[in-house]
Amino acid sequence: MIEKIQTLLSEVQTLKAGDEKEWEALRLRYMSKKGALNELMNDFRNVPAEQKREVGMRINELKTAVQDKLNELKQALAVKEEDHSGIDLTRTPYPVRVGTRHPLTIVKNEIIDIFSRLGFSMAEGPEVEDDWHVFGSMNFADDHPARDMQDTFFIEQRPDIVLRTHTSSVQSRVMETAEPPIRVICPGRVYRNEAISARAHCFFHQVEGLYIDKDVSFTDLKQVLLTFAREMFGADTKIRLRPSYFPFTEPSAEMDISCNICGGKGCGFCKHTGWVEILGCGMVDPNVLDANGIDSKTYKGYAFGMGVERITNLKYQVKDLRLFSENDVRFLDEFMAAH
Ligand code: DAH
Repeated sequence: MIEKIQTLLSEVQTLKAGDEKEWEALRLRYMSKKGALNELMNDFRNVPAEQKREVGMRINELKTAVQDKLNELKQALAVKEEDHSGIDLTRTPYPVRVGTRHPLTIVKNEIIDIFSRLGFSMAEGPEVEDDWHVFGSMNFADDHPARDMQDTFFIEQRPDIVLRTHTSSVQSRVMETAEPPIRVICPGRVYRNEAISARAHCFFHQVEGLYIDKDVSFTDLKQVLLTFAREMFGADTKIRLRPSYFPFTEPSAEMDISCNICGGKGCGFCKHTGWVEILGCGMVDPNVLDANGIDSKTYKGYAFGMGVERITNLKYQVKDLRLFSENDVRFLDEFMAAH
């Protein structure tokens, strides 16, 4: 009898079931009332008492082996079914939605690219900033209106911590740590306490530029900005600088470019002047150099700051600022070809 059990044991190891039907046949062959195991149990009655223990153990061993094997085959069948169910290998594939780069990212990257070709490297700073880096180090008087809650977001219970209102704060961060010559651009998000409309938003993006060295002149600034304007808006673009005021530059200017929508003839976009303002700039105020640990007797610098939304508007005529943050795919898809 032991031999019979042994034969069955090795037979069980080789069992195969191609489908449910075959599996069921195997189950019946071993486990049903008239199956192999029950047959053995019947024979067991006639086993001499001194062999009962060993034969009993062998039968149990076989029973476990049969159960294990049946389970294993069942599982294999389930996996097989899963793999093939509902898969039609002849069907054409679903179209895959390809995302687009955000228009502000496209324009920001273009600005970075132009200035990096002019030798500027990148610098970044925190959006949650202290009063010193946003205002103090940038030569804002204590009673400057930008320090007012109406214009600036303050962190609750921390009057000295603000959401930066401009990327000029990164100028200060760079001057603190780097030795001149310094030539950096600082792209980033800025925040202002404005009611949201088509023309204003509580956050937007800027790119700041800073150049500090021994002999830096206003002419250098003008030439770099002219090169930028031509690279960005086309070789025929003209620039014009108008005197202005910023606490951190002296002298200061605002730069217009010839309206690239009407070519300078005058249109609704440029309010029929032929010019549109794109940035603020100037020679770094000596107070700013000294406040940030750079000797203003040895070094000079220029700086500029532009709004990325503004440049994007000019390039792509986006009429409503809110579109930039709504992430409507119909709007974003329009920039599919732009990058
Ligand atoms: N920080 C100014 C703003 O937010 C922009 C600006 C103007 C930056 C002149 C400059 C600059 O670096 O020289 O409106």
